[in-house]
Amino acid sequence: MKEEFEIFPYVRERRLRSSHNIRELVAETTLNPSNLMLPLFIISGLNKRQEIPSMPGISRETQDIAVSSVGRALDAGIKSFLLFGIPDSKDEMGSGAYDEAGVIPSAIRKIKGEYPEAVIAADVCMCEYTSHGHCGIVKDGKIDNDLTLPVLAKTAVAYARAGADIVAPSAMMDGQVKAIRQALNDSGLIDTIIMGYSSKFASALYGPFRDAAESKPAFGDRKTYQMDYRNGKQAMREIELDISEGADIVMVKPAMFYLDLISRAKEKFNLPVAAYSVSGEYSMIRAAALKGWINENDVLMELFYSIKRAGADIIITYFAEKIAEILK
Ligand code: PBG
Ligand code: ZN
Repeated sequence: MKEEFEIFPYVRERRLRSSHNIRELVAETTLNPSNLMLPLFIISGLNKRQEIPSMPGISRETQDIAVSSVGRALDAGIKSFLLFGIPDSKDEMGSGAYDEAGVIPSAIRKIKGEYPEAVIAADVCMCEYTSHGHCGIVKDGKIDNDLTLPVLAKTAVAYARAGADIVAPSAMMDGQVKAIRQALNDSGLIDTIIMGYSSKFASALYGPFRDAAESKPAFGDRKTYQMDYRNGKQAMREIELDISEGADIVMVKPAMFYLDLISRAKEKFNLPVAAYSVSGEYSMIRAAALKGWINENDVLMELFYSIKRAGADIIITYFAEKIAEILK
């Protein structure tokens, strides 16, 4: 302590903060629209857009409208998209998920036909397609892991065949990455990227998404498959397993309350780490901004630079276009 006082007149941290351009010169972290992925909610039919009440500014849209959303985002510098499907009808087995003529395969074909350069990722899960809203097949009141794997695999193959560059399993079933990698290989789809939702927590921040996707579980909760937020080591183990099963990109989800885990994942593993800034993060910021209680642009810069500083290579966010606009 004493030594520090003696060096004080010579060492002055404020020198590096003294002007805008000097701060730019020494900034350690960059935020670039190319690293942002924009989620899109796709409904069936044509020329329809439905606002999501709990996510002001975000809509569910038909594939033709999604094509124009993709075009607009590409112009803003966003290069990648994460597709979620909301089918017209749901059933016990979630059969709409792997229907080759379903809402997601047809949206992928349509978007890729128009914009082949757009990087298209498709979420692979069952909760949007099952009548009970769970992420897997239900048997005797339980979410059955091993019965779910072949369904996820079939779904991933359907999306890859339709032209998805990336499939992103989010069901949190054990062995899902391996099951999907094997099925892709068996179908000759060796180049499809798997982005695992490797450490996905049972989070209260998914509420607005479930409004958007009508995927709130009809009974119980997701705690037997999604992770307990008290566990950081377990998150590292989940990521390690996904890598060993053949994932190309791993993910921490949500982002905002989980920066410690993004940072640990980045240090520990040598592949791209994605962070999903989820619907609840979007809605909290949006709501406070609409009330005039916070400065939205300033908060967005602070949050998204924090996620990058923690170590995320890719950030999935509903704010992608807004961030690109601010960065311009
Ligand atoms: C589906 C899925 C969910 C999200 C992404 N994929 C919802 C859930 O697990 O209930 C949440 C995304 C968000 O909140 O933005 N398994
Ligand atoms: Zn799910």
